[in-house]
Amino acid sequence: MILTKNDIDKFQNIVKKYDKVILLTDDNARRCCLPLFSDLVDTNNYIVVTISHGETNKNLRTVSKVLKKLIEINASRHSLMINLGGGLVTDIGGFIASIFLRGVDFVNVPTTLLAMTDAAIGGKTGVDFMNYKNLVGSFAEPQAILIINDFLMTLPKRELLSGMVEMIKYGFVIDKKMLDLSEDNYTDFIMPAVFMKQSIVDLDMRDDSARKILNFGHTVGHAIESYLVEDENCLSHGECVALGIYCSLWLSVKLLGLNKEILGQYLQIYNRFFNRLIVNDINIDKVMSIMTHDKKNYDGKYRFVLLKDMQNPVIDVMVSFDEAKNAVDAMLKWQKTCLNDK
Ligand SMILES: NC(=O)c1ccc[n+]([C@@H]2O[C@H](COP(=O)([O-])OP(=O)(O)OC[C@H]3O[C@@H](n4cnc5c(N)ncnc54)[C@H](O)[C@@H]3O)[C@@H](O)[C@H]2O)c1
Repeated sequence: MILTKNDIDKFQNIVKKYDKVILLTDDNARRCCLPLFSDLVDTNNYIVVTISHGETNKNLRTVSKVLKKLIEINASRHSLMINLGGGLVTDIGGFIASIFLRGVDFVNVPTTLLAMTDAAIGGKTGVDFMNYKNLVGSFAEPQAILIINDFLMTLPKRELLSGMVEMIKYGFVIDKKMLDLSEDNYTDFIMPAVFMKQSIVDLDMRDDSARKILNFGHTVGHAIESYLVEDENCLSHGECVALGIYCSLWLSVKLLGLNKEILGQYLQIYNRFFNRLIVNDINIDKVMSIMTHDKKNYDGKYRFVLLKDMQNPVIDVMVSFDEAKNAVDAMLKWQKTCLNDK
């Protein structure tokens, strides 16, 4: 159930059914968003559990710490978890809720653009494991997702751009009107993006068919994110997906005959947001090795979502190692041209 600021009463009615309410958040979201949330919702009896921000904390160690806390405070099957934060908190909080006592109810209150329009919706939960993105996880749907744009006032610009990339992705695979998105008008596109994501999830919650189109740009994107996670120059999820979208479009031109102008259109959109290089150099062999272990790939081939045409995605396109490597190589060459343009 999608709720907005106008539905606070409905939200409170959901919450009051539970014996305890545990609010999971990270340190940044606690500082920037909890005061605002407490102005809207009576949080007096909530038990606040705070984890450290950053993708390096999206792991089983953090899960274990939170589980211990849940036991310490006597959380029960009749308790509710509220995940207040970005995709890190909604992914990890949803996962914890899905395994604690074989599953307790949870709601997501996303505070980043990316989490509002993507991560908090659709019930994919999980953590990274052995450097692989989201390798351990579950499908578990929240009771509700509460979308409040006001949280975005404190979100750093880089994180806003990260969310916009996922929204642009919807423009390529679902609805071209998302491509009109800009830094000035993005708030108008939040609810359309929320409903786009929800409608795809309603068709295919477990990612067996229709939902796979949302993985557009993620095969390479996730591998780069995993590769750089410990690096001091680590990238946001959206920045990695932006690089992944380039690779997917490049492969679409080569393998599915996509009109090259669409790749050109993507570069224009990219420049509208970034106008700079995202990644200077990466070890292609390491990225390829991480991609080989992606759960979407098997039989020694990579499975990409590619485009035949705008809003005409094709799922499960088999791509050989060499073709995928050439795409990453082409992406790095393009990134170097961004450096030269500066
Ligand atoms: N489950 C899914 O379907 C799905 C989809 C896409 C992405 N994801 C996952 O989401 C994660 C990325 O999510 P994200 O981009 O929201 O990153 P994030 O949760 O790491 O948040 C980014 C940063 O912003 C801070 N922050 C959050 N809200 C803030 C606010 N309102 N003001 C100031 N700072 C704030 C956070 O503390 C963090 O430092 C990745 O782990 C990715 O794998 C999941």
